[in-house]
Amino acid sequence: MGKYSLLFLPGDGIGPEVMAEVRRIVDWFSSRTELAFDVSEDLVGGACYRVHGVPLHDDTMAKARAADAVFLGAVGGPEYDGLDFSLKPERGLLRLRKEMDLFSNLRPAQCFDALADFSSLKKNVVSGLDIMIVRELTGGVYFGEPRGIHREGNERVGINTQRYTESEIARVARTAFDLARRRGKKVCSMEKANVMESGILWRDVVTEIHADEYHDVELSHMYADAGAMQLTRWPKQFDVIVTDNLFGDLLSDLAAMLTGSIGMLPSASLGAPMENGAPRAMYEPVHGAAPDIAGEGKANPIACILSFAMALRYSFDAGGEANRLEAAIADVLSEGLRTADLIGETGSKPVSTSDMGNAILAALDRTSTR
Ligand code: IPM
Ligand code: MG
Repeated sequence: MGKYSLLFLPGDGIGPEVMAEVRRIVDWFSSRTELAFDVSEDLVGGACYRVHGVPLHDDTMAKARAADAVFLGAVGGPEYDGLDFSLKPERGLLRLRKEMDLFSNLRPAQCFDALADFSSLKKNVVSGLDIMIVRELTGGVYFGEPRGIHREGNERVGINTQRYTESEIARVARTAFDLARRRGKKVCSMEKANVMESGILWRDVVTEIHADEYHDVELSHMYADAGAMQLTRWPKQFDVIVTDNLFGDLLSDLAAMLTGSIGMLPSASLGAPMENGAPRAMYEPVHGAAPDIAGEGKANPIACILSFAMALRYSFDAGGEANRLEAAIADVLSEGLRTADLIGETGSKPVSTSDMGNAILAALDRTSTR
């Protein structure tokens, strides 16, 4: 088996700290399994702006397109608030998503048993929770034209456009149905067809794709606001949720918090297959740069490490190794290890980012001697 090329883009805030832990996990898999990885690193976001004056360099964009998988830490920070919109750190991330055509963003919300008490919802509502949000990632109001701020008479007007083509809806719907086939065989599609024409089209296209290709999967529809309510009321009613870029942004933060901490949630952004059959892919934690705790060793590396587990599954055809990594994380959590985000009011002592990494590596070592 050849070496897989990984491009690491640690970015800003806690990005570099959590990515350093992923690097150690990748090295572990390189030295202890059949898998081999070649890791290179580059700049994105504010870190790139400080060196190159742009949030993403063209050379980095080219490397990202050539890599077997890209891993992104986080972008953004208050020091970049005053920058021109086109230079903001987030633009680097959005350019990567758009130019790699990563149209399907998979955001699982799984509740680890050891953390069921930590959710803001009652334990019986979240324990055993395992849902997958599929967020459309390269269309909708994030990219639609016209957009901008202009002057009309004596005041300014801000404009963004929600725009979806049938093919954009169809391809992300297929991702959701294909995933559901391998899981609980249920898809719930969320939009606002009661208010938005793009929502009416969304519902029509998802319904057509289902009728033509996916009889074995159960399809339901919900308005996105009701979906948010149902996600907090009884999230276990869902298996796969498919929704647009903006609703997916909101609903995935909500779903993340059901599991106890946004520091736990990974994501995979997938595009069309490359020459070797694997999808073009970028993996990132759902959490952001958390500048308030950056550099203090307080960040939870689990979301980022779980993103590598997703890469094992979706990019490297190594589902068994992904399960092994997820089991190691579950082990460490049931031993009681907690980073600061998972401590809450309990008053117990948190472990550092690298201690959490050490513990996960030790748990992996145990799996290979069993
Ligand atoms: C996310 C983030 C991004 C988004 C930001 C950082 C541009 O919130 O990945 O959910 O809005 O998509
Ligand atoms: Mg978000």
